[in-house]
Amino acid sequence: MIKTVSTTPYQDQKPGTSGLRKKVPVFARENYAENFIQSIFDSLEGFEGKTLVIGGDGRYYNREVIQKALKMAAASGFGKVMVGRGGILSTPAASHVIRKYGAFGGIVLSASHNPGGPTEDFGIKYNIGNGGPAPEKITDAIFARTKVIDTYKILEEADVDLDTVGLYALGDMIVEVIDPVKDYADLMESLFDFGAIRNLIGSGFRVVIDSMSAVTGPYAVEILEKRLGAPAGSVRNEVPLPEFGHHHPDPNLVHAKELYDDVMSPQGPDFGAASDGDGDRNMVVGKGMFVTPSDSLAIIAANATCAPGYVDGIAGIARSMPTSGAADRVAEKLGIGMYETPTGWKFFGNLLDAGKATVCGEESFGTGSNHVREKDGLWAVLFWLNIIAAKKKSVKDIVEAHWAEYGRNYYSRHDYEEVDTDAANGLVAALREKLSSLPGQSFGALKVEAADDFAYNDPVDGSVSKNQGIRVLFEGGSRVVFRLSGTGTSGATLRLYVERYEPDASRHDIETQAALADLIAVADEIAEIKKRTGRDAPTVIT
Ligand code: G6P
Ligand code: ZN
Repeated sequence: MIKTVSTTPYQDQKPGTSGLRKKVPVFARENYAENFIQSIFDSLEGFEGKTLVIGGDGRYYNREVIQKALKMAAASGFGKVMVGRGGILSTPAASHVIRKYGAFGGIVLSASHNPGGPTEDFGIKYNIGNGGPAPEKITDAIFARTKVIDTYKILEEADVDLDTVGLYALGDMIVEVIDPVKDYADLMESLFDFGAIRNLIGSGFRVVIDSMSAVTGPYAVEILEKRLGAPAGSVRNEVPLPEFGHHHPDPNLVHAKELYDDVMSPQGPDFGAASDGDGDRNMVVGKGMFVTPSDSLAIIAANATCAPGYVDGIAGIARSMPTSGAADRVAEKLGIGMYETPTGWKFFGNLLDAGKATVCGEESFGTGSNHVREKDGLWAVLFWLNIIAAKKKSVKDIVEAHWAEYGRNYYSRHDYEEVDTDAANGLVAALREKLSSLPGQSFGALKVEAADDFAYNDPVDGSVSKNQGIRVLFEGGSRVVFRLSGTGTSGATLRLYVERYEPDASRHDIETQAALADLIAVADEIAEIKKRTGRDAPTVIT
């Protein structure tokens, strides 16, 4: 029984950096989720009879939206939907399932690292057949459709049992409830030297993964405890909960502080890692050494051939513009391509598909490769364990040796969250006004070499993305970057990214904020952050 339901469009369904994200009460408005899902289907062509993958990070409202999406997919003519048991699929696992089974695309339900719960965040994202987030051409079409949509179609049927693996009929469509973990765990086993990692763990190297009560728990238990032999309990907060146990599932020095402190304590584990709500972010901490995401990308790239899946070397590296230039030095040494893209994993898709880049990374705790088309938290963790096992060195020794060889890019991001939107827009507008007058100006010892608003020309499809962040580059390789986040759900978030290159190994052990203090002060002087936001200090420093 296909029912056509009249609906009124909403004007605020513009997908951001990573899909549509809103608070649950917004998604729960009449037909809000339905309008968006139908707008996705209306923006696609040629999916009749084909397969759609659906899964989410298990957060509050996940199951409700999955049932709606299943019935709407059936009403719109999909032949089959593959859905993770319990409605669970981590974002990288969803990407892999789309690719492995040649699906037409997928719907990923997540608000990533934002908290979950009845008054917290929810999100819907569409991924295309390559397994990656839909490019702007499609998200623009979806947004245009949401503004005029007047009907949606839904099958009138009972809910599907999401908790038992198997095949179910939903109208003319088949629903296959799949084990959400197995395909992904097999993929990891094909890329990394599980034997060497098992020996490392067997020799007493203690690894802890904090899944922050979000989606990676079942994946980490299967891989770390079952396949790699780590003792039970090595994965903490391993059960995905609808409210993430009231954790803020964002793996960084603020929200995963307990893990960080534990690894840093003398009796604590040798290696700690955490992942975010939907499993695509990662944080890596070794005893005595927190690895910045920018360094992590560079070090993974420099040591890629340690892992069986990358033994033939990598074709190129891509990083988002605000990510530090540490990886650039590796690419230069390896003589391979280096690509600088706007913030957002979707910009890596073309480079990966074209074989131009093999590994990609973002300062926002995202690292990944051409094995899927999303960033991948557990992949990064396993890559590190593989490197440690192969080099037989600690994280600290590996990082310090890397700095000694390539120089150190001191790096930090300061976030000013939930700032008044007009104030944030005013700050950016004023910076744009100033851009042309900055080059040549000196601020203390720092002289501006160039300043611009980053624009990206995609070398694969020729598309241009403008206004992607304001860069002020100083002589000697230091820089500050200003951007407004595209993932927040209330007010505006101003991000300030600060970077200083230090080639001299005798100056590689300065505390990061101290090493960057002059740049941070200049950033405030140029952008008038304190004055315009009314804030004395950032909300989060990573
Ligand atoms: C998500 C995206 C990333 C992005 C990050 C921060 O995790 O997948 O690609 O780097 O958000 O984005 P924002 O616009 O908030 O800085
Ligand atoms: Zn995420």
